Amino acid sequence: MTDPASSGGGPYRVGLLGHGTVGAAFATLLAERAGAVEAATGRRPELAGVLTRTRGDFEDILERSDLIVELIGGVEPAREYLLRAMRAGRDVVSANKALLSRHGEELYAAAREGGAQLRFEAAVGGVVPVIRVIHETLAAAHIEKVHGIVNGTTNYILTEMARTGASFEEALADAQRLGYAEADPTDDVSGADAAAKMAIIARLAFGAHVGVDEVPREGIDTITPADIAYARELGLALKLVGSAERVNGGVAVRVFPTFLYAEHPLASVGGAFNAVTIESPAITEITLSGPGAGGSQTASAVLGDLVSAMIPPPTLPAPAVEAPLVLDVESAFYLHLEVADRPGVLAQVAEILGLQGVSVKSVVQSGLGEDARLVMVVHPVLESKFLAAVELIGRLDFLRSTPRLIRVIEELF
Ligand SMILES: NC(=O)c1ccc[n+]([C@@H]2O[C@H](COP(=O)([O-])OP(=O)(O)OC[C@H]3O[C@@H](n4cnc5c(N)ncnc54)[C@H](OP(=O)(O)O)[C@@H]3O)[C@@H](O)[C@H]2O)c1
Repeated sequence: MTDPASSGGGPYRVGLLGHGTVGAAFATLLAERAGAVEAATGRRPELAGVLTRTRGDFEDILERSDLIVELIGGVEPAREYLLRAMRAGRDVVSANKALLSRHGEELYAAAREGGAQLRFEAAVGGVVPVIRVIHETLAAAHIEKVHGIVNGTTNYILTEMARTGASFEEALADAQRLGYAEADPTDDVSGADAAAKMAIIARLAFGAHVGVDEVPREGIDTITPADIAYARELGLALKLVGSAERVNGGVAVRVFPTFLYAEHPLASVGGAFNAVTIESPAITEITLSGPGAGGSQTASAVLGDLVSAMIPPPTLPAPAVEAPLVLDVESAFYLHLEVADRPGVLAQVAEILGLQGVSVKSVVQSGLGEDARLVMVVHPVLESKFLAAVELIGRLDFLRSTPRLIRVIEELF
């Protein structure tokens, strides 16, 4: 911070941009915890001003603040305000994943230019301190892989579908009624929200810039209760998993509905909780979990960033390195086929899989009147090979419906 509104003793002045769900909760929490912050940092925080659409003036608030907390959301005007604040030497705290995932490099550059801190723990994983652990605790570790349930809405919906047998539509309506899903849930159920968070995580874990629009993703709106029920017979739990990993000198970042074996640390994470598993050779794995959203919970993560910013030294990610984005990676798969119940069917399916180098790990076969159901899990294989095999299987005349496939994470730790 080069040009604080105040320095040394006296109150530490916080300019608050946005006073909605999180902003209002943050203002309350700041007043409640001011004494504890003073005990930890030596200075008592107080609000220098609040900006909403109808009150406050940004320039005036900036002038009077040591630090700016941005809880407006979206790209503009949040981007402009943060750039101006950091170029003026003010430390900033934001919960804005849309902004960080799209304009992270520009924001990091402005922070370097202004000698300011940029902290954004609440932008990923709600209260779960994933940014701090990746960027500070594991700053010198070689992180190989991060798997995350980073969207509480979809985790709530999938948990309810598994628990009650409800359809996707029923579970979504329930989530909306309870305030876990917004009236327009597209960003959540399409995987877009999780993709933005995984792009932010990948930037910190691997130092590589990942464009959020380049992250391959699938949502959960095509998942059926039957997928979940059959998979349970194979000991699998379904989650919307974001993964970011080093692959062949590049980086693969993706978001897909994924089956996990019950022993995987993310398999038992239910309801609106978030959780992130970080893998590094030196530590094996760390799993962090907690509430993924909510006004007071998110405000608590923002307050934690405020305290960190008040205690130097500042930390910023190093400039991004070039790393190719790898799209064709190995994965295990669950494959669900509805077929005519006649001899030789399984053999033909197995032959096609074998020709593409796909080996089957487990199969469950059950009758369905004239038809039969084949549910199998295959060992990890390049996606392109598995998709080629499924394309060929899809053309077989004994098939009764389009094959359904879902990725499986096999790690058990
Ligand atoms: N809600 C959560 O549980 C949660 C969890 C994690 C992260 N976040 C992130 O936290 C941020 C805030 O979310 P929220 O749920 O608190 O949003 P919100 O309830 O919609 O509140 C947004 C606030 O920003 C103000 N605002 C909007 N446009 C503005 C503009 N052009 N100029 C000045 N002020 C403007 C609004 O003003 P008015 O009061 O005048 O409308 C409102 O006070 C977002 O980045 C979100 O992604 C939220």
